[in-house]
Amino acid sequence: MRILGIETSCDETGAALFEDGRLLSNIVLSQEIHRKFGGVVPEVASRQHLKAIVPIIRRAIDDASASLESIDCVAVTLGPGLIGSLIVGVAFAKGFCLATGKPLVAVDHIESHIAAVYISYGEPAEPFACLVASGGHTHLFVVSPDFSARLVGSTSDDAAGESFDKVARMLGLDYPGGPEIEREAAKGDPRAIEFPRPVMPKGYDFSFSGLKTAVRYFMDRREGELSGEARADIAASFQEAVVDVLVEKTVRAASDLGLGTIAAVGGVAANRALRERLTLEADRARLKVLLPPPELCTDNAAIVAAAGYLYLKKGSPCDILISPYSTKSY
Ligand code: KG4
Ligand code: ZN
Repeated sequence: MRILGIETSCDETGAALFEDGRLLSNIVLSQEIHRKFGGVVPEVASRQHLKAIVPIIRRAIDDASASLESIDCVAVTLGPGLIGSLIVGVAFAKGFCLATGKPLVAVDHIESHIAAVYISYGEPAEPFACLVASGGHTHLFVVSPDFSARLVGSTSDDAAGESFDKVARMLGLDYPGGPEIEREAAKGDPRAIEFPRPVMPKGYDFSFSGLKTAVRYFMDRREGELSGEARADIAASFQEAVVDVLVEKTVRAASDLGLGTIAAVGGVAANRALRERLTLEADRARLKVLLPPPELCTDNAAIVAAAGYLYLKKGSPCDILISPYSTKSY
């Protein structure tokens, strides 16, 4: 079964072809235009998707040396995300399926992030604790090999990626903030400033707004111009605090719940410091660690097509009359 995946939930327009567990092509266009606004402007994002969607789908098909006719099924992100952006991908997918009679599969964005594990490692042998850390979500799931996910923890305020984006802005860095902070942090001392570790004593929930406020207060108390060295130290110390919390909760969940494997996906899981620490702590706790490559962690359509494939293994295609959703509780 050859699946065309389509992703337009935020500011990446993506198309990918996936066939029976194998990725044939994966094209992503990141909308650079939002940089100058310091964040994603929803209406601008929708218009950019509209411009990009047909060329991106053509490129995904060409890259796989495939044809439009060879596509057996379309998988599209239905939500959560920016509603205007989602509508562009969903409307295209519906039109394609209506015109060709091919089946449509609606994919949940958070579950599509988890599918990155299956593309990279195949079907896991046992249930695993999966951290999904992105711009809008910070969730901890227990995922069964059949791709069913049970939520065990989530953020009570900001998402991890959102805190990277906000702190980057405070430091005068560009959007998206994650890669910018990572770059600055590489030049700084992670122990320079002792920012709070918002670790809730019980359970596996997260909270990042206190950490963001601590950075704000620290910035306000400082005097004079922000030197390059000070910026790098703040970035490194902030990143260290986020990594500490994400790693501790993920490893703790796996240990408490008797799981032998941890995984991390979503844009924040592209972060090198987080990946290194997860690997180190998993090793210490004798856990297996699954880290899909960074390009499958940030938003893309390969994960959408793979999630569609995994849904179809368990169930049937969806009705053509589906509607996108901006939020969802798991
Ligand atoms: O999963 P994603 O591409 O889109 C959403 O579903 O939100 O995640 C985007 C988020 C942004 O907040 C971005 O700053 C963050 O992931 N991010 C990173 C890195 N790359 C992207 N955060 C930390 N380090 C990175 N290298
Ligand atoms: Zn995402």
